[in-house]
Amino acid sequence: MLEDVKVLLNRFIDDLEDSKSKELFAALPQGKMLRSKLILQISPTKEAVFLAAVVEMIHAASLLHDDVIDEANTRRGVDSINAVYGNKNAIMFGDILYSKAFFELTSLPSPIPRIVSQAVTKLSLGELLDVELGKSFNPDRDAYLDMIYKKTASLIEASAKSAAVLAGKDEKRYGYYGKKLGVAFQIVDDILDITADEKSLGKPALHDFKEGKTTLPYIYLYESLDDEGKKRVEKLHGRNLTNSDKEWLLEMFQKSGALERSKDFAAKTAYEGLEVLDKKDEKLRAILSALIDRRY
Ligand code: IPE
Ligand code: IPE
Ligand code: MG
Ligand code: MG
Ligand code: MG
Repeated sequence: MLEDVKVLLNRFIDDLEDSKSKELFAALPQGKMLRSKLILQISPTKEAVFLAAVVEMIHAASLLHDDVIDEANTRRGVDSINAVYGNKNAIMFGDILYSKAFFELTSLPSPIPRIVSQAVTKLSLGELLDVELGKSFNPDRDAYLDMIYKKTASLIEASAKSAAVLAGKDEKRYGYYGKKLGVAFQIVDDILDITADEKSLGKPALHDFKEGKTTLPYIYLYESLDDEGKKRVEKLHGRNLTNSDKEWLLEMFQKSGALERSKDFAAKTAYEGLEVLDKKDEKLRAILSALIDRRY
């Protein structure tokens, strides 16, 4: 059924009858399709294929804008759209994907259009908060958690909730599962920024802190350091890291246990989501384990 989602996505792009859009879409390889897998697991139906294609279009739009905001030059293993075609094309193609997604969304039964469109507002508010928080070093875990809920978990929550609506399942419980899964997913993404390399990630590595993002591993690292260490971390915030800065940071991450603490927090959060499902669906558990243990 994932193949059906891809076919439909391509049809949505063909509908635009615009060769530039086709070219830009072809320059963005398909990702892991986590949101589609989640939707189809909850609701293996034709309508869910449609929902998944809409959500993938929204997700792709968010990535196009995110790479402009984060000044990232690679995405999904290739040069990013902003790197190849420039920010203006990336922004406008993002807008085209968003608006096409909203147009298609209106064909889905109530209350799905409201659920998904509201999540996109949250996602954008979250990206805005991310920019705001990135202006200075942020040691506040709650502010970080609120921001990642909005920028990442809100769309995953809406995907799970909407799929539950289509399947006639309890939308509140599935929404909660999606929310927790989404928060855990972003924490793992933030850990991978530190532990993985660009080649396996398909996007820049050790890039978040330079962009001003004090993610959970940095918050925990900071908490573990003495005053001198704290000052050094604060000084590196938002800077281009030299090789010796990188070595020092990675050594401190090793010593402090901040990465393990972050991973434990992500796992605990994800399992809280699974707890609320009546029958602890094995496939949904598998999605969750794959997410926690992923390498890219
Ligand atoms: C990347 O999402 C952006 C985040 C929310 C962390 P994915 O990791 O799902 O990206 P693709 O679709 O697989 O490339
Ligand atoms: C992006 O978070 C979340 C959204 C796209 C809304 P990140 O900035 O961490 O995502 P990556 O690491 O670039 O994929
Ligand atoms: Mg980014
Ligand atoms: Mg970002
Ligand atoms: Mg990231």
